[in-house]
Amino acid sequence: MSESTVAAGVPAASGPTRGVRLVSPIPGPRARAIVDRDRRALMTSTKSAPIVAASASGVWVTDVDGNRLLDFAAGIAVHAVGHCHPDVVRAIREQAGTLAHFAGTDFYYDLQVTLAEKIASLAPGTHEKKVFFTNSGTESAEAALKIARWQRQRPITIGLLGGFHGRSMGALTMTASKAVQRARFAPYAGGGHHIPAPNCYRCPYQLEYPSCDLYCAKILKELYFETTIPPDDVAAFIAEPVMGEGGYVVPPKGWFAEIKRILDEQGILLIADEVQSGVGRTGAWFAIEHHGVVPDLVTMAKAIGGGLPMGAVILRADLDLAAGAHSNTFGGNLVASAASLAMIGVIERERLLENARTQGGRLKQQITEIARHHPEIGDVRGIGLMVATEFVRDRTTKEPDPRFRDRVLEESYKRGLILLGCGRSSIRYIPPLIVRPEEIDEGVEILDAAIRAARAAP
Ligand SMILES: Cc1ncc(COP(=O)(O)O)c(C=O)c1O
Repeated sequence: MSESTVAAGVPAASGPTRGVRLVSPIPGPRARAIVDRDRRALMTSTKSAPIVAASASGVWVTDVDGNRLLDFAAGIAVHAVGHCHPDVVRAIREQAGTLAHFAGTDFYYDLQVTLAEKIASLAPGTHEKKVFFTNSGTESAEAALKIARWQRQRPITIGLLGGFHGRSMGALTMTASKAVQRARFAPYAGGGHHIPAPNCYRCPYQLEYPSCDLYCAKILKELYFETTIPPDDVAAFIAEPVMGEGGYVVPPKGWFAEIKRILDEQGILLIADEVQSGVGRTGAWFAIEHHGVVPDLVTMAKAIGGGLPMGAVILRADLDLAAGAHSNTFGGNLVASAASLAMIGVIERERLLENARTQGGRLKQQITEIARHHPEIGDVRGIGLMVATEFVRDRTTKEPDPRFRDRVLEESYKRGLILLGCGRSSIRYIPPLIVRPEEIDEGVEILDAAIRAARAAP
């Protein structure tokens, strides 16, 4: 198939300044065959689109049929420095040929110590910190919740409605994003309580910021601690600095500071879940920095492994556990540690925090611009390169429109733009931090066309 004979109704986006190249419909014949085999061979999980990647570089993914797609999903916020950055690839190759695994929790690695020192030096707060390495976000949540419970010897942890912290039992206890994620898994690990999340677009108390006086934070002390959640029984409060899976909801200025003040009064630890928002995505190493709050524990995963599976918990050094209380086999695996250090080096050398702020501003501004003629976009929000739009049936009633959102997702990938949904009816835009202005422009142009097509669809 030539570049101009693509899926019916989908114009070929090609030309000298165009990166997307469509040579078949998406999915093409090879992709369709693999999707069919996948359906038979793999347990059903959370598939979003029939895109079958064969290779990738930077923000570009080539699928098995030879289509080149623009990646504004970054492997679910994993590829901070883009796919296959040469420095990261070199570090992985060298380390894999030198020493891949020796069990860093039982023995010692120079590289793991170097990475822990580096991560601790980047984390908010001037206090002494320690790091525990894990293999995923859910494992980081497990470790942080266990550290809090072990230290405080209190049975309760509090989270936010809409929050997502993972799917293993302890993390799932605190995950309250979608009912399907919890259905049939009760009774979870026990001790989990949730309060409504701050959300100025859909204030749970129908108030307006700032005249609300941060009621959504104060309610923790004024109502919950007085009624259902005895504060002396609470070990920790876990929250994402920008709610990810739950819809890229940014808490209002002052919310985290007020929550931290309330927690400190009761000796309750604050866990900032930076699994999705960390590693520069918001233009700061950690999104909690935007809130001016220093958490007691920070959970990380996704981008921290430079594309390989890795997670970490950064804890106040005085929260360390007794020997033998918690451990794992692969945490801080040497190849992942090498990839992580190389990735951090790239962010520093290529000034990618700055780029995340600049390109994130461009992205948000352009999406805000196209939203003027797309009444289905009810809200544009986010920080840095962590941007989302929420789709609604009506801007006044704000009734969520998940079907329209799903159509936009489909029309986007058919045109070569890879996106992911979040929340009930939102789409997140999270290109790698290396994204260039022309790639932002191309992504928004495709999005614009996809929204028009979604509106025209029956
Ligand atoms: C904020 C947050 N915490 C935890 C997790 C769980 O991470 P993982 O899928 O690596 O277990 C995710 C995954 O999306 C996340 O976004």
